Amino acid sequence: MNPRTVVSSGREEAAARAADHILDSLGKALRQRPFATLAVSGGSTPKLMFEELALKPFDWTRVHLFWVDERVVPPQHPDSNYGMTLRALIEPLRLGEKQVHRIEGERSPHDAAAAYEGELRRFFELAPGHLPEFDVVHLGMGSDGHTASLFPGEALIGDRTGIAAAVYREQRNSHRVTLLPGVLLKARNTVFLATGGDKAEALDGVLRGPDDPLKWPAQVAARHAKNVAWFVDRAADSKAPPKQF
Ligand code: 6PG
Repeated sequence: MNPRTVVSSGREEAAARAADHILDSLGKALRQRPFATLAVSGGSTPKLMFEELALKPFDWTRVHLFWVDERVVPPQHPDSNYGMTLRALIEPLRLGEKQVHRIEGERSPHDAAAAYEGELRRFFELAPGHLPEFDVVHLGMGSDGHTASLFPGEALIGDRTGIAAAVYREQRNSHRVTLLPGVLLKARNTVFLATGGDKAEALDGVLRGPDDPLKWPAQVAARHAKNVAWFVDRAADSKAPPKQF
């Protein structure tokens, strides 16, 4: 199924439109169920979107916040996805601690992954072999086409049964904990936010290239998840073919 792609003039507009889409999806979820679940990614792009989310009128009291991935560092570390989200979203919204389900990056990679998986099993009341179904999963994309912490060549890209795992990124000497593809595919709504010219080649490969998820990991969610929407700016979309009118 072809994902919907919304092209904005710049990263600010893309972030604002992605935020509107997330709130719209969460609002629909809250009309159907007692609570809604949102899993967010980290990196640098989402900060603008989090700031937009924090400014818009929305009742967050029944929303539970999770992470798609986390660097295995303490929350105070500048690389912590939780730390960035705390400053840009959690504190401005005054989310309660019971609404926030972080990956404990201060633990060892294996223990952090196991603890997070346990939290997901508990919260979603999962039977053995079942996977959590998030209302919204927000994903970014690296200039190499990775998403979550599923980097090109990662064997776990083929996994469809696991919930979370610790991965090691040799090039950056960085340990991470990531949700696995089966969970990304189960999401009711998937929102990609990718901006900047450095993402143009990867976006072209992910959206229009041959099916090669080991080369372009974001293809897994982009091509096989449900209700996928991309929010990009013109710079990231610069390799798109001319629009046919
Ligand atoms: C992370 C993210 C990762 C991110 C991409 C894009 O922890 O780094 O979850 O998947 O979405 O690396 O990062 P930028 O937004 O910094 O380009």
